[in-house]
Amino acid sequence: MNILVLGSGGREHAITWALKKSPKTEELFVAPGNGGTALIAENVGGLDAEDGQAVLDFVQENDIALVVIGPEAPLVAGVADVLRGAGVPVFGPDSQGAQLEGSKTFCKEFMMRNNLPTAEYLSTDDEAAAHAYIDKMGAPIVVKADGLAAGKGVVVAQTVEEAHAAVTSCFEGAFGKAGNTVVIEECLTGPECSMLAFVSAGKAYCMAPSQDHKRAYDGDEGPNTGGMGAYSPVPIVTDDELETMIDVMSRAAAATADEFDYDYRGVLYGGFMLTPAGPKLLEYNARFGDPETQVVLPRLESDLVDVMMAVAEGRPDEIELEWADKWAVTVVLASAGYPGSYEKGKVITGLDAANALEDVTVFHAGTAVDDEGNVVTAGGRVLNVTAMGDTFQAARERAYEACALIDFEGKQNRTDIGLRAIRGRDSWA
Ligand code: AMP
Ligand code: GLY
Repeated sequence: MNILVLGSGGREHAITWALKKSPKTEELFVAPGNGGTALIAENVGGLDAEDGQAVLDFVQENDIALVVIGPEAPLVAGVADVLRGAGVPVFGPDSQGAQLEGSKTFCKEFMMRNNLPTAEYLSTDDEAAAHAYIDKMGAPIVVKADGLAAGKGVVVAQTVEEAHAAVTSCFEGAFGKAGNTVVIEECLTGPECSMLAFVSAGKAYCMAPSQDHKRAYDGDEGPNTGGMGAYSPVPIVTDDELETMIDVMSRAAAATADEFDYDYRGVLYGGFMLTPAGPKLLEYNARFGDPETQVVLPRLESDLVDVMMAVAEGRPDEIELEWADKWAVTVVLASAGYPGSYEKGKVITGLDAANALEDVTVFHAGTAVDDEGNVVTAGGRVLNVTAMGDTFQAARERAYEACALIDFEGKQNRTDIGLRAIRGRDSWA
């Protein structure tokens, strides 16, 4: 069958790579794609992935049997609604389901109604009420813009002054319309853990837990980023915590079926914090994580086309998930200056040598192919160097061995991905 993937990140390269392994896949298109997807599929540069009608036209012209929506923006924009309305199988929720990610207030209300564990909070569009709540609760406290802000709308304020400043900046328009409402939240502590689940017809099939590294620099210092590395599974998670997270995801999936007008069909991503009082939800996302996908999908032994079709067609009982008994670690290679401004167009060397290492796959994020056929940098996060291993240490060492073979001007990466997991739970104390 012919399949269309929407998106251009490392996540979409990993999804495309996993779909490509299926004998059922015939033609594979990615819109807009990147330098890595160009090697294994056909990139469709001219298609606006957030324009449902344009995507539907492409689907009909190219006999597409399944559309996989990678990022949140097309989901929130309602691309799945248009496609589903025309009878096209889509992996990804419609715009109502995507509100779980598109509005933090919508998400918190969903969690409260369904008794899902999360931080205490206030949601308000009244600036004075926001300041008053901060004075009442004290610091540390977390201030979040309600809407989509490309991961930049959250301030974990250590002082009351910092929290007030964050509220002021939100209402002054720092995040545009996304900041017209703020969510102010109790500050939780503990390691973070991402739990991704395939959800369809009210059922959740959890993938292995994974862990992202959000800060730019070693030692979890520096500004927040889209994610600088990840691993899966997560050695520090206890069996009790795992059980709680699976239960929370299952109850959330059942609630989507009870409450929403349309069946939620796609990935539900629970962002948890493993607090001393048990796992609590920081957020839900309506899609696969990036870079979490780059460590979760390489371990999947089941046919991803079968899984995604079962999700898209509302046949959850046919979902079967088999996982390799291995560990996976991914390290992000980024452009100098990221997450601030950075230059593009730097020639990347060593990709073939890195990919030739056993158990290594390099997923592209911000790359492109130039006129001379060179793979060049084209974004902040450039590559995700993923390695698998029989032990956590082996996977980690192999990933860094591969990173050392790759070069481009200004290459920066964290050198401590996975180190806290090896040091153990106490390193989060
Ligand atoms: P979010 O966009 O909601 O995932 O928030 C981004 C990051 O902010 C999270 O990955 C956490 O590191 C941090 N964060 C969000 N909410 C809280 C909270 N209630 N307590 C402590 N840290 C938080
Ligand atoms: N890795 C964080 C996210 O995908 O939202």
